[in-house]
Amino acid sequence: MNEEIPVITIDGPGGAGKGTASFLLAKKNGWHLLDSGAIYRIFALAALKQGVDLEDTIALRTLGASIQVEFRLAENGVETWLNGERVDQQLRTEQTGMAASKVAAIPVVRMALFELQRGFRRPPGLVADGRDMGTVVFPEAPCKIYLTASVEERARRRFLQLSQQGQDVTMASLVREIRERDERDMNRSVAPLKPAPEALILDTTGLSIEQVLQKIAEFARSKGLNVSD
Ligand code: DC
Repeated sequence: MNEEIPVITIDGPGGAGKGTASFLLAKKNGWHLLDSGAIYRIFALAALKQGVDLEDTIALRTLGASIQVEFRLAENGVETWLNGERVDQQLRTEQTGMAASKVAAIPVVRMALFELQRGFRRPPGLVADGRDMGTVVFPEAPCKIYLTASVEERARRRFLQLSQQGQDVTMASLVREIRERDERDMNRSVAPLKPAPEALILDTTGLSIEQVLQKIAEFARSKGLNVSD
C-alpha cells in the first residue's frame, strides 16, 4: 500500500548513536521519525503504572492498542508525546530502559506494537530507529543501517547524557547494565538484535556525528534515495 514511501532503518545496541543520527537525518530531510525504543519504554511504563500482569496476554494486547504516540522534531531534539502528554523525562532513565528490554522480550508485546510502528510510514519518508526495524518491522526497506560501538564508548556516551540530565550514575554500573541489556536483546527468541544481511554495518567508535551522518547518507544515495546529510 505505502511501499513506495522511502524508509531508512537504523538498528543497533543502546548507545551506538542511533538516536542522534536518526533525529538529525529525519530533521534535515523533513522526514518522519520512529523511535521504537521509546515505544517499548512507554509500554513498560504504562504496564508498571497500571499494574498489568506481564503473563496476562489479553491485558497486554489491550494496553498495546490503547497507546497513541507522537514524536515531534524540535530544534534541539525529539519530543515524545503519549496520549497528548509530553513524557520524555520519565522515559529516559536506565530503570525504564531495563524494564523496556524485559517487556520487549515478550512475543505478544511485540505483536501488539507492530501495527503502531508500521503506521509511522508516511510521506515524504521515515527514519526508523530500533533493534528490529530492518529485520522484522520494515523488512522491505530500501536502505538498512546497523550502528555499533564498543561497550566502553557506549557507556561513556550514556554517562555524559545522563549526568547532563542530573541523573546519578557511575561508569561501572552503566557498563554492567549495557552488557546485561545487550545479552537479553541479542539472545531473545523473538526479533533478536542482529544486522539485516543487506545492512551497512558502521562502527561509530571514534567517529563524529557528522562522519556518521555522511556515511549513512552516502549509503542511502547509493540505494537510490534522495537524502542529504
Ligand atoms: O533504544 P532504547 O534504549 O530506547 O530501547 C529500550 C529497549 O527496548 C531495548 O533494550 C530493547 C527494546 N527495543 C526492542 O526490543 N526493539 C526495538 N525495535 C527497540 C527497542
